[in-house]
Amino acid sequence: ISGSGASSKVTATLPSGESVEVLLYGATVTSWKSDGGKAENLWVSEKAALDGSKAVRGGIPVVFPVFGPPPKDGHPTSSLPQHGFGRTSRWEFLGKSTSEDALDSSSVKLDFGLYTSGLTEDARKAWPFDFGLVYSVTLSKDSLQTVINVRNEGESSFEFQFLLHTYFKIQDISKVSINGLLGVEYIDKVLNASTHQQSDASLTITGEVDRVYASIPQDTTTILESGTPRFDVVRDNLSDTVVWNPWIEKAKAMGDFSPDDGYKNMICVEVGAVKGWQKLEKGEVFEGGQTIKSLL
Ligand code: BG6
Repeated sequence: ISGSGASSKVTATLPSGESVEVLLYGATVTSWKSDGGKAENLWVSEKAALDGSKAVRGGIPVVFPVFGPPPKDGHPTSSLPQHGFGRTSRWEFLGKSTSEDALDSSSVKLDFGLYTSGLTEDARKAWPFDFGLVYSVTLSKDSLQTVINVRNEGESSFEFQFLLHTYFKIQDISKVSINGLLGVEYIDKVLNASTHQQSDASLTITGEVDRVYASIPQDTTTILESGTPRFDVVRDNLSDTVVWNPWIEKAKAMGDFSPDDGYKNMICVEVGAVKGWQKLEKGEVFEGGQTIKSLL
């Protein structure tokens, strides 16, 4: 652990040079370098708050227990802020474990925990359930795995949504395509939340995009640059994926998004369980996550 207070972070480096950095605030992964430590894979805004004053604009914010603006209809998440409290709570560092069989297969796992007792009073009031979250971030030579374990520690059942809001760093949005969503139905938030079906094998980004692809049968979504695969995003027990790029105007309008043309260097491909709700009865556990592979 380095830094203090809300800026505390945990870093880990493999003998071969790859590294990962996780802020305790939100358990937000703020850097993941592969290729011997030479290639940063995550985009973080130059104006991202890294002092615990606001959710981080970049990296991998953890969205829990509600995705997007909460429903207004009296659902138990209704009084929570957009994307819930996961990304704005201070998590505990539970420890690090390493496996060093061979240089090429070594990995390091960092565990973080968030419990009802670690919430602010406001969050506890807004969502009065007893839960335990363990978030594991595992760095291997060419991949990063991030997995959540949600446990209902209380007497009554609760419902939640979960999403990993990954900001991938890319060189040029005009050369990016996204594969692995063919045939999948999505809600287009840019087009009044209307429902569509992905009819092209490759999705290219030529303007603002904010789509929720749901119940995806394929396991893997691939981000390509100039036709060459750059990242594989593999879902584990999560069947939805959001694709988001704010484009010019929305990027400018966000106070913590910098530089203004940073939208050219990022694409959010966000795996999650955001269609409907995941329900956990007393004592039940849900586990889901992603493995992201850098294909450089
Ligand atoms: C995406 C949503 O997941 O997150 C978008 O689909 C939203 O609608 C975006 O704009 C960023 O949200 P926020 O709260 O970090 O500005």
